[in-house]
Amino acid sequence: MEIALEEGGPVPARPCPDIVIRPSSDADVEVMVAIYQHHISKGVGDVGAFEEERLLPDDLRRRRKTMRKKRLPHLVAERGGQVAGYAYAVPFRKRPAYRYTLKHSIYVHPDHLHAGIGRRLLPALIEACAAGGYRQMIGYIDAQNAASLRLHETCGFTRVGYLKAVGFKYGQWSDSVMVQRALGTGSDDQPGA
Ligand SMILES: CC(C)(COP(=O)(O)OP(=O)(O)OC[C@H]1O[C@@H](n2cnc3c(N)ncnc32)[C@H](O)[C@@H]1OP(=O)(O)O)[C@@H](O)C(=O)NCCC(=O)NCCS
Repeated sequence: MEIALEEGGPVPARPCPDIVIRPSSDADVEVMVAIYQHHISKGVGDVGAFEEERLLPDDLRRRRKTMRKKRLPHLVAERGGQVAGYAYAVPFRKRPAYRYTLKHSIYVHPDHLHAGIGRRLLPALIEACAAGGYRQMIGYIDAQNAASLRLHETCGFTRVGYLKAVGFKYGQWSDSVMVQRALGTGSDDQPGA
């Protein structure tokens, strides 16, 4: 059954009793780095096996610290007690006019793909961003990334742009799809109202 989403409203998460969503901690850094490294080595999503994209544990620790200070969500999904994925949101742009808009990333452990982790993690991230007073959420998805396109669609994101040949990896140009969803009351009222 298709679920009709009220614009900006909460996304009904799929019930999966063995999946727990919680804020990440420094103890999760090694697993998160391993998940990220796996996906860049496969060139999946918006990443493409470039040396510059390697993520070092200290970089991730630093990033988490900065995000905590700015009260930006950085979440992990645990399945059967193991970290099975993570997701976070950062400012869409640095300029203050864009301070109510975030862009996000989500990565699921290769052993736990297509098991409903994304469908639990992304709604939790959306909820955390809305609770933080943010109003819009933006994602960029490789046009070939069927799993991410589907996940975002089921979580209430709309395709708002198609960016042609903006990436180059593995000897080929790649297109990106820009997706967006409102958070909370979106643009219905002014922030702080
Ligand atoms: C994209 C990603 C986060 C999805 O996470 P996941 O836990 O595997 O997804 P789920 O099992 O929750 O499935 C979410 C939806 O996508 C669908 N889906 C999952 N894998 C799919 C695939 N390979 N092809 C098509 N649809 C797929 C599911 O059927 C589900 O749709 P439904 O709600 O209509 O049933 C995961 O594939 C991933 O980490 N990919 C590598 C990194 C990446 O691409 N990140 C996103 C960058 S924009």
